[in-house]
Amino acid sequence: MPPFAPSSVRAAVAADIRRHGPIPLDQVLERALYDRDGGFYESGGRAGRQGDFLTSPEVGPLFGAVIARALDAWWLDLGSPDPYVVVDAGAGPGTLARTILAAAPACAPALRYVLVERSAAQRRLHAQGLPLEDPALAFAPVDPDTEAPVPEAPEGPICVSLADLPRLTGPSVVLANELLDNLPFGLAEHRSGEWLEVRVDLHTPASGPFPSPAAGEGSFERLVERRVPLAPDRAALLDRLVPTPTDGARVPIQSAAGTWLRDALAVATPRGRVVAIDYATMTADLASRPQGEWLRTYAAHHRGASPLANLGTQDITCEVAIDQLAQIRPPTSDMSQADWLRHWGMDDLVEAARQAWRARAHAPDLAALAARSRVTEADALLDPEGLGRFRVLEWFAVSR
Ligand SMILES: C[S@@+](CC[C@H](N)C(=O)[O-])C[C@H]1O[C@@H](n2cnc3c(N)ncnc32)[C@H](O)[C@@H]1O
Repeated sequence: MPPFAPSSVRAAVAADIRRHGPIPLDQVLERALYDRDGGFYESGGRAGRQGDFLTSPEVGPLFGAVIARALDAWWLDLGSPDPYVVVDAGAGPGTLARTILAAAPACAPALRYVLVERSAAQRRLHAQGLPLEDPALAFAPVDPDTEAPVPEAPEGPICVSLADLPRLTGPSVVLANELLDNLPFGLAEHRSGEWLEVRVDLHTPASGPFPSPAAGEGSFERLVERRVPLAPDRAALLDRLVPTPTDGARVPIQSAAGTWLRDALAVATPRGRVVAIDYATMTADLASRPQGEWLRTYAAHHRGASPLANLGTQDITCEVAIDQLAQIRPPTSDMSQADWLRHWGMDDLVEAARQAWRARAHAPDLAALAARSRVTEADALLDPEGLGRFRVLEWFAVSR
């Protein structure tokens, strides 16, 4: 967990509000999560056992092994291109990359594996156990007619680490495991028949009684919520997505996730695909549930405080609204993580592991213990109340 040092982020948010008036929640989250000076992900916050929350790749190597199978199948579908570019967006510390490569996929000699991670602190972790190369190598020139690599292109897998999505010309696969829930989002509330935007303001003694429960850190100026009219186009969208909201219903507005999807589709085009894995549902479902269920904070593997408290010291995540992403393009496929992992052969891998364990259980070696833990990993990844309930959303890129 990052040290409790909220002042720089909080001071920057307060300065933003003094300059512009009440600011959208997206802007607060942008600073709280990604500010170079004290943002959660720049201060050591991360996925992993030694981090703040567990994701599927952090459960163990099985998740990456199943993804490696899917990557091979998509590679064959594309006609075994070389190079074959796979972009791991929001790569975190690089665990998914390591486990995919450890599974030795057949596409490895053609593979250009691009880790994209905006946090510099996490990009520094990519070199641990991954043979990082100069990005120019990953995007080695190809013959524009045949898409064949030029003769001097080296054999893969070649891994590179970038801060932003690359600009590519060939088909590619863009993976995003638990990225979209971590992109800044705004907040809307339905009151007296209309949608309002919930912004963040400073409460000072001169501004009268708190307009809503204070969420500051005990300082003189507290961060408080302030409702303002919602932009008409956004209100019209919410009217369509949530036809019968109750008074006080709240929903996230996930514009950054939509922008990311548009950019990712441009990277995958032509003939590639974007695969986003996340906790996801529909906007009307979010509206029917309390905000605390779908807007969650985490630090050191525990649920954290209110999102406006302790800025920079906790992760802030939001369930992904599939129907808001569909405004950019409806997903081609939407499956539960459990079904998707089974589709790509998880049960075979687990059965092989079970047999390996049985064969060695009387005198287990390290390989037998790894096989044993693969069975336990499968339970966690398929759990219908947990990771198995995540959605795997796929968009097949068509033409530019
Ligand atoms: C919840 S973590 C998931 C990490 C990893 N994919 C996993 O499953 O363990 C989300 C990661 O996305 C990164 N991130 C957020 N916005 C990003 C963006 N626009 N581009 C690349 N990475 C981003 C964050 O810094 C964070 O490391």
